[in-house]
Amino acid sequence: MIKMNEYAKRRKELMQKIGPNGIVILSSAPEVYRNGDAVYAYRQNSDFYYLTGFEEPEAVLVLAPKRKEGEYILFNRVRDRDREIWDGPRAGQEGAVKDFSADQAFPISELSLILPELLAGRDAIHYPLGINRDFDKVLMHAVNKVRSKVRGGMQSPMAFVDITPSLHEMRLFKSPAEVALMQKAVDITEKAHVRAMQFCQPGVYEYQIEAEIMYEFQRNGARFPAYNSIVGAGRNACILHYVNNNQKVADGDVVLIDAGAEYQNYAADITRTFPANGRFTGEQRAIYELVLESQLAAIKSIKPGASWTNAQNIIVKIITQGLIDLGILKGSLDNLIEKQAYFPFYMHRSGHWLGLDVHDVGRYRIESKWRSLQPGMVFTVEPGIYISADIPGVHKRWHNIGVRIEDNVLVTEKGREVLSQKIPKTVAEIEAIMAN
Ligand code: GLY
Ligand code: MN
Ligand code: MN
Repeated sequence: MIKMNEYAKRRKELMQKIGPNGIVILSSAPEVYRNGDAVYAYRQNSDFYYLTGFEEPEAVLVLAPKRKEGEYILFNRVRDRDREIWDGPRAGQEGAVKDFSADQAFPISELSLILPELLAGRDAIHYPLGINRDFDKVLMHAVNKVRSKVRGGMQSPMAFVDITPSLHEMRLFKSPAEVALMQKAVDITEKAHVRAMQFCQPGVYEYQIEAEIMYEFQRNGARFPAYNSIVGAGRNACILHYVNNNQKVADGDVVLIDAGAEYQNYAADITRTFPANGRFTGEQRAIYELVLESQLAAIKSIKPGASWTNAQNIIVKIITQGLIDLGILKGSLDNLIEKQAYFPFYMHRSGHWLGLDVHDVGRYRIESKWRSLQPGMVFTVEPGIYISADIPGVHKRWHNIGVRIEDNVLVTEKGREVLSQKIPKTVAEIEAIMAN
């Protein structure tokens, strides 16, 4: 659990960043219809949640530094006995103040009335531009209302500033409480991957493996995956974001599972690859060991001050050399790296930031330079080799071997901590689990 005072600290820090004459406005995520009148399960907008801990839809956060009546204003739904009988309890304005530390709370229906007053006299509106079109309109309407009153002495804001760079820089650095939630998401994910390995055998369908994963997620308090689970057997293991999960697993396939739990809105993002029948073939093992070697070397390089791109460079070098050693690529290492000859086999980067979003926010470059790692950053390390049958010039004994190994890593003062280190990963560990 993140304590309310941690949210307060974040709001304070953001207000300090924008200065005393700015104003922050953020909307909750909209509810989205899936079909007919059925909605997708509601998931709060990550920026909004990061600053409020508030999970209801139809809410707007305003931060107005130095405002006499209070700096943190929340617009939210009113209590409504009828609606609450159908949909469950709401915080209401009293709850917004008492349980979510708002200085003031107003019914969301009063937003268009009150927002212009809050905007008046502020220099700049700090806002995530162009993300929520419907809310853009609400905000523009309020700004125009202020403009229409300038002759009466009201001062309208001069600038719109994209809030995301400053807010996302904060989100990039995880607090101990955030790391604890991410660890929990990873621990639940561990159970799911182990269960999937134990369950898998030739003849099952990919969706049946997915069901085993979802079972562990949900029974451990992660109602939803952090992203659609990828369960690809055989040739499907070579499709990076394969989510159809509807094919039968055959003897001799490798099975690639990229699945992570979301726990209290924090994501895990883990990939494991294993042989459907529990024993790697020689070719599968060779590719697997190569991906693993590159991943372990990349993880080892992680420490404060190291460049973000180190991991990628290490992976590219090891994978390219390994593909030469296996006779899949021909030529000199430097030349093949220069030509990006690895690209048909390894076509993504080494990983990404991880947090409230699976592809979490935060810049990877500062000006023209890849940024250096600092304690509190969490990210994935996920090399892969995918030998799809349509890559020309590769002997067919390698075809349809797709391997990715993905772990979640925290940068610490001393180096790194692999949050997912307990999830079986060596050939011996995987074969032992599947033998049971
Ligand atoms: N699960 C998506 C990714 O690994 O980036
Ligand atoms: Mn993944
Ligand atoms: Mn990932």
